[in-house]
Amino acid sequence: MSLKQGEFVGSLDCGTTSTRFIIFDQYANIVTIHQREFPQYYPHPGWHEHDAEEMQRICEECIDEACKDLERAGWARESVKVIGVTNQRETTVAWSKSTGKALCRAIVWDDSRTKNLVSFFEQKLKNFGIDGPGTAHKSGLAGVQLLKDLTGLPISTYFSALKLRWMIDHHDNVRDAHDQDDLLFGTVESWIAYNLTGGVNGGLHICEVTNASRTLLLNIKSLQWESRMLKFFGFKESILPRLVSTSEVYGNISRGALKGVPIGGLVGDQQGALIGNKCFTQGEAKCTYGTGAFLLFCTGEQIVYSQHGLLSTVAYQAGPKGRPVYALEGAIAVAGSAVKWLRDSMGMIKSAEEINDLASSVPTTGGVYFVTAFSGLLAPYWDPAATGLIVGLSSYTTPAHICRATLEANAFQTRAVIDSMELDSNSQLKQLKVDGGMTNGTFAMEILSDIGGFDVIRPEMRESTALGSALLAGSAIGLFGWDITRPETLAEVNTKGSFTFSPKMAAKDRTVRWKGWQRAVERSRGWEE
Ligand code: G3P
Repeated sequence: MSLKQGEFVGSLDCGTTSTRFIIFDQYANIVTIHQREFPQYYPHPGWHEHDAEEMQRICEECIDEACKDLERAGWARESVKVIGVTNQRETTVAWSKSTGKALCRAIVWDDSRTKNLVSFFEQKLKNFGIDGPGTAHKSGLAGVQLLKDLTGLPISTYFSALKLRWMIDHHDNVRDAHDQDDLLFGTVESWIAYNLTGGVNGGLHICEVTNASRTLLLNIKSLQWESRMLKFFGFKESILPRLVSTSEVYGNISRGALKGVPIGGLVGDQQGALIGNKCFTQGEAKCTYGTGAFLLFCTGEQIVYSQHGLLSTVAYQAGPKGRPVYALEGAIAVAGSAVKWLRDSMGMIKSAEEINDLASSVPTTGGVYFVTAFSGLLAPYWDPAATGLIVGLSSYTTPAHICRATLEANAFQTRAVIDSMELDSNSQLKQLKVDGGMTNGTFAMEILSDIGGFDVIRPEMRESTALGSALLAGSAIGLFGWDITRPETLAEVNTKGSFTFSPKMAAKDRTVRWKGWQRAVERSRGWEE
């Protein structure tokens, strides 16, 4: 049977719990998709690791299997003209220049083992500023403020630099590789791009700017590695990948079903979803509910420095000469992972979908609040010592109330982030575009709109993260006339429609619940012994 030739774009989406490869046509119809979960390692409380080699194998398997499906559907694999890669951010990989092999397991973004390092570097920042003893305040800015100014971030267990410092301090082979200039550091897209382009046999050691903006090592204004931050954390320059933009041809795939196909887009998954939701202009916002929840608010070419606990981050840079576009971000560490916990650890539900049925079987939570601070609280609270807390229990409480409180926790945390965004941007958010696994639950979206008090817009095709990287990759080679800097060229992409959830809860009830949530958060803070 002869296979048809078409024009498609592929997108490899390597998330925290699963990887998928999706092949899209020019309207963002999904032609084929292959998805696989990969193992999670939790060796100690608060620790979360991935086996980078295993992750890579699964990524390549997804590409190969999706291509087989494409052929089964009658299309030649040569129809895939370019691919993009999008990935879980901050997760840190350390590998050897001489062997191309990972030196230890990757430390995942939500791993909180570096709490003590956070205290150490916070103290160092406070006492000496960024440039070391005797130089505090030289720049006229106190350390914390200067850090924010340079990187857009606070010191937190969340970001890659702390994870890399921990690896060098605790794994002899990583320390030796660092000493001997054999260490290559990378975020997940760096690792994937390195391996797809040849690995130890000439693979590219690159890092894309949205991912780099999550390391604490990037100067977000100049989009260059910040040598002061390297010194602050004690890293040698030899470990660093070359910085690249979000949309350009970096190199070609060196093996597997798509050998020879260019890689034209690399992007952190949350920024990918911002682009996939076409939030290109100042004031547009999206929230992706995956393992965690990530709310990004586009601030255009302006960097907005938050006074209310949000991060300033790079949204994208279209091409090496493109002007960077920025976003304010509120990261919530636990969203879908709380549902997984109810299913796998508590056995309260049999499937993730069941949470919606159980939660909607009761009219309220019966006074229960669930602060899902399993690895501390991120935005806007930034408290590594907060722990998970269920409060308001009585003999009346059933699993249904706890399920409902879990969905509400998601909505309360979203609201807390939006409140901060409104204060920082001095504008009111009227609608929020959403995607991610949790948005499949209609009841979860109704609760979000009720608790938040805003419209929630759910598109029909919700693979927004993968679509974002596909748009960036297509744009890099001018496929379908796409140009990420001219949104009008994307007008025909993903126009299938969307559903809007509008708030139905009385304002008075919303205020009462919100106050209850704030009290519960206060009780969970600083709890860890
Ligand atoms: O910052 C972490 C984020 O990129 C992870 O996203 O979708 O894998 O939970 P996700």
